[in-house]
Amino acid sequence: TVDADLVIVGSGFFGLTVARRCADDLGLKVLVLERRTHIGGNAYSEAEPQTGIEVHRYGAHLFHTSNERVWDYCNRFTKFTNYVHRVFTTYRGEVYPMPVSLATINQYFRKALTPAQARGLVAEQAAELDTAGASNFEDKAISLIGRPLYEAFFRGYTAKQWQTDPRELPGEIVTRLPVRYTYDNRYFNDTYEGLPVDGYTAWLERLADHPNIEVRLESDFLHDGPLGKAAVVGQVPVVYTGPVDAYFGNAEGELTWRTLDFEQEVLPVGDFQGTPVMNYADEDVPFTRTHEFRHFHPERSYPDDATVVVKEFSRFAGRGDEPYYPVNTPADRQRLLAYRDLARGERGVLFGGRLGTYKYLDMHMAIAAALSMVDNKLVPHFRDGAGLT
Ligand code: FDA
Repeated sequence: TVDADLVIVGSGFFGLTVARRCADDLGLKVLVLERRTHIGGNAYSEAEPQTGIEVHRYGAHLFHTSNERVWDYCNRFTKFTNYVHRVFTTYRGEVYPMPVSLATINQYFRKALTPAQARGLVAEQAAELDTAGASNFEDKAISLIGRPLYEAFFRGYTAKQWQTDPRELPGEIVTRLPVRYTYDNRYFNDTYEGLPVDGYTAWLERLADHPNIEVRLESDFLHDGPLGKAAVVGQVPVVYTGPVDAYFGNAEGELTWRTLDFEQEVLPVGDFQGTPVMNYADEDVPFTRTHEFRHFHPERSYPDDATVVVKEFSRFAGRGDEPYYPVNTPADRQRLLAYRDLARGERGVLFGGRLGTYKYLDMHMAIAAALSMVDNKLVPHFRDGAGLT
């Protein structure tokens, strides 16, 4: 038998938030199973050994939220810096601010347009195509922002992100394209924003640091053994945050994902690009963007003669690749419905997190969803004896 009141599969933000609240508020003994060699899921970060610069191993993570409850909860475990995220993009040898703003438009067209004039220009250029009649990504995007801005800032980047010609992509993946008619170049619009003062891993470790929580690393719930699915389900309630298709042995087919490849280099310069993120909009540049991690923490004393730069490449995930972004084709949506039915029938197991629900979730969304699962499912079950489905 398993010596715990609750088993949680996955130590990402979702799993650890559920674990912590169940330990704190319900006094449960919680066992967290993690297949990787470290906690934290995709938010995990570590110091690059040569330079000490904190690198987010699974891609850059910027924390932002407008949810008061999430912000208060997070502040129990970490302080945040006053970092504000800004992104630039290189297109044909010139650097522009992103997302597309009045600064981008005026620089691109070599003009000094007012907000109203810029709106007029974009509306005129967008009138070339009718949004309602646009069936593919390219036509839809042109119908929203016009051909010149689309071709400069969206065509190449989108083609690289999806490894697909935007004319072959469905129009529905673009509902709106962010264009701002001001010079505001903050990337996020949320009330709260910042980076954890002593890093993501320290934050995640404090979340897990409770006498009632045990985290077992290199423990795959879908492998046989005393802590595997066959032994645990039905004995102890389970919160599962791994991939939902894998849980059911891919019985309804595999859900498709995009993944990223990262090429990390330590360069012998104090500053490579002067900013944390540079996008590359040109299609003939094979990577989508470069991150220079020192710029996420200008308040830290990092070496002034070395820097860490990571190039990011996007592609469809194959077997064994890390699943990052749901592709969400019509076939995926059909399969997901079938998996949701199976999940509802799986007594004593709750499915959550980005892999368990096949949804892109920002960290604040994963934390909010975890807090709700505790309120709506786990408190009623453990405190009031309600069933667990
Ligand atoms: P997460 O994937 O973190 O954790 C799931 C855990 O379950 C993993 O540790 C996995 O190893 C484990 N697991 C899976 N199967 C298992 C099994 N069979 N047995 C045991 N363990 C198993 N968010 C944001 O707010 N700002 C940002 O800038 C970014 N940036 C970003 C970049 C990239 C490239 C990605 C892919 C994602 C982001 N995010 C983000 C989103 C952020 O990563 C996401 O919100 C959290 O990872 C969600 O946490 P979960 O716990 O749901 O999943």
